[in-house]
Amino acid sequence: MSIKFDTRYPAIEDLRSKAKQRIPKFAFEYLDGGCNEDVNLHKNTAEIRDVELVPSYLSKHKQSDMSTELFGHTYDAPFGIAPIGLQGLMWPNAPIILAKAAHKHNIPFVLSTVTTSSIEQVSEVTEGKAWFQLYHPAENSLRDKIIKRAEAAACPVLVLLCDVPTFGYRPRDIRNGLALPPRMTLKNILQIMGRPEWALRTLINGQPNFETLKPYMPKNLDLAQLGQFMDQTFSGRLNEEKIAPIRDLWKGKIVLKGVASEADAEKAVKLGLDGMILSNHGGRQLDAGQSTIATLPDIAAKYRDQIKVMMDSGIRTGPDIARTLATGAEFTFLGRSFMYGVAALGDRGGDHTICILKTQLQQVMEQVCCQSVNSLTNHLVSK
Ligand code: GLV
Repeated sequence: MSIKFDTRYPAIEDLRSKAKQRIPKFAFEYLDGGCNEDVNLHKNTAEIRDVELVPSYLSKHKQSDMSTELFGHTYDAPFGIAPIGLQGLMWPNAPIILAKAAHKHNIPFVLSTVTTSSIEQVSEVTEGKAWFQLYHPAENSLRDKIIKRAEAAACPVLVLLCDVPTFGYRPRDIRNGLALPPRMTLKNILQIMGRPEWALRTLINGQPNFETLKPYMPKNLDLAQLGQFMDQTFSGRLNEEKIAPIRDLWKGKIVLKGVASEADAEKAVKLGLDGMILSNHGGRQLDAGQSTIATLPDIAAKYRDQIKVMMDSGIRTGPDIARTLATGAEFTFLGRSFMYGVAALGDRGGDHTICILKTQLQQVMEQVCCQSVNSLTNHLVSK
């Protein structure tokens, strides 16, 4: 095993601890927390870790190859960077740092509608390779404008988000008065003063903004007005009637993200979509829901030959990626692990986190004597 990263932080948990020391509490809690009592947040990872793999030590093993074909592109590894909102609040310029690292390592980066870099900025640093995740606007005219920009930026995959019918109930964010830009309460100012590097970087990079949405937002909104704008702009649920016209509008691939039931998986297939991401939004929306891995085996068995079945939520490490692929996912996405990396190590954080995950996954594949990502399913201990 060759280690090509800073050996002081070999574990994702090291990055998480370092991130906690480096960014203000309101930003760390936004990143780290789930919703309500955090039941699903913990269940997601715990249930992935209940999955066991069996090695075949005496088999003829040449080498383990992590490369994975997805939508006509061969990626270097079976994982990508999930869409994450408000990234620049957690670490200035985070989306660009992560997009560049993803591009360098040839893995997908997914840009969120509600993050702090624009479609165009991210397309430039990834040479048109980044995917774009759409929060469906209430108005179709805004939907069309955003989709046209993603198309002009050569985005290959449009991800439609379905698991935020309303925003999750997140007690920490409520307590912290979380907003963009951060609300300058005495408590928040004290938190920022305790994190000088974050404060300096924020000063240099300027206040984070919703860059993709900026052209459609009235200028100089105060906090209450900003909240109102977001509520009005994104009110309304995604449904089959809203997805069908997008299938006609968008020439590239379409992925539905937030699938948590067989009924929704069936609809994604019927709508002729190219992929789905089983997800519960990282345990940030429905605390009473199932873990993502609990829904995976049945959905993968039923639909894997009709649509690409991918998964996020709860996956933090290389072994977690291996367990998820062995259970039936064809590709995985991680969000928090990458943001811990960037919050801990700044510009080096994306590269470092990808290196850890690649090394860990490679090591698991070598241990179980598995040559390709597709054959990880042969190593699942059935229960
Ligand atoms: C954004 O998507 C969030 O979960 O905060």
